[in-house]
Amino acid sequence: MNILVTGGAGYVGSVVSEQLAKQGHEVLVMDNLQQGHHPTIDDAPLFLWFDIDEVDVLEDILSHCRIDVVMHMAAETVVEYSVTDPGRFFKTNIIDGIRLLDTMIKSNVKRIIFSSSASVYGEPQSSLIEEDHPKNPVNSYGETKLMFENTLKWYGYAYGLKHISLRYFNAAGASGNHGEDHRPETHLIPNILKAAINPDKPVAVFGTDYPTRDGSCVRDYVHVVDIARAHILALEKLDEFSGRAYNLGSGEGYSVLEVIDIAREVTGVDIPFEIHPKRAGDPAVLVASSNRAGVELGWYPEYSTLREIIESAWKWMKEYPDGYEF
Ligand code: UFG
Repeated sequence: MNILVTGGAGYVGSVVSEQLAKQGHEVLVMDNLQQGHHPTIDDAPLFLWFDIDEVDVLEDILSHCRIDVVMHMAAETVVEYSVTDPGRFFKTNIIDGIRLLDTMIKSNVKRIIFSSSASVYGEPQSSLIEEDHPKNPVNSYGETKLMFENTLKWYGYAYGLKHISLRYFNAAGASGNHGEDHRPETHLIPNILKAAINPDKPVAVFGTDYPTRDGSCVRDYVHVVDIARAHILALEKLDEFSGRAYNLGSGEGYSVLEVIDIAREVTGVDIPFEIHPKRAGDPAVLVASSNRAGVELGWYPEYSTLREIIESAWKWMKEYPDGYEF
């Protein structure tokens, strides 16, 4: 199939593009490179450097490249900024997203897989979050992801758009060629591994008075290659399960302090940390039930332990200690 991956030079997007290309799909990556990196798109036959709000270019691509499916990953993603600068999130994640949908419909491209997020749920009311759990986002990032999921539903009713939303929990780890390199880096595992490489700079632990077993936040880490596999399965089952949303997580929660402990074992470094105040917009615990993805898509994480996930991230970081060149 001809697949347009918006945000395909980003962390998850680059691995999804890589895995799609491996499956023999024609992958066209579109990215404004505000967060993505150039070398990450080596696996994609075609790379387009432009912003999703450039509708004319988008229209040309959708019709002339005979795109069958869009995988929509372009987004503002840093939870903390979504609290301090919500307008940026509503513009990119909603307004630009709607422009994309309208252009797709105009170009008769009616299939989309959307990168949604665990942040649609807000503070969980049960230990394992299922997809029909109440949705009360605690940051504008989650709000925009939820709004866009609902937008897809209405475009489905109105125009026959086929859509699946994949709610990632905490994407982590690396494929052989692609790893996590955000600038600034805000994510826990790369920050811990940076402190392993440079112990003069301790990793910050944001909050130790959450209602959790050790007071630090609990998250469900899922390997980025497993997330990419879920996209491929969703693509295969898009007709059958259009309209569905799926959690992608491991079902196991780890606290920030536990993640540091496992990273210490993996790296052999006594990784230093410092306690900092809570970060705005962070729920205490987010752990997925991915039962629906198992039953309907046949998806199960192949990287079943956090140790394996951290090992892959560590291998990548040792190879690219300064991240991507550009
Ligand atoms: N954390 C630290 N120190 C750091 C970085 C993070 O203590 O240097 C803590 C955070 O406070 C949080 C946990 O580690 O409790 C994980 O934080 P990340 O920034 O790695 O990930 P988030 O949970 O904030 O967010 C990620 C994605 C979102 C997605 C969310 C769903 O960035 O896109 O997971 O759980 F919505």
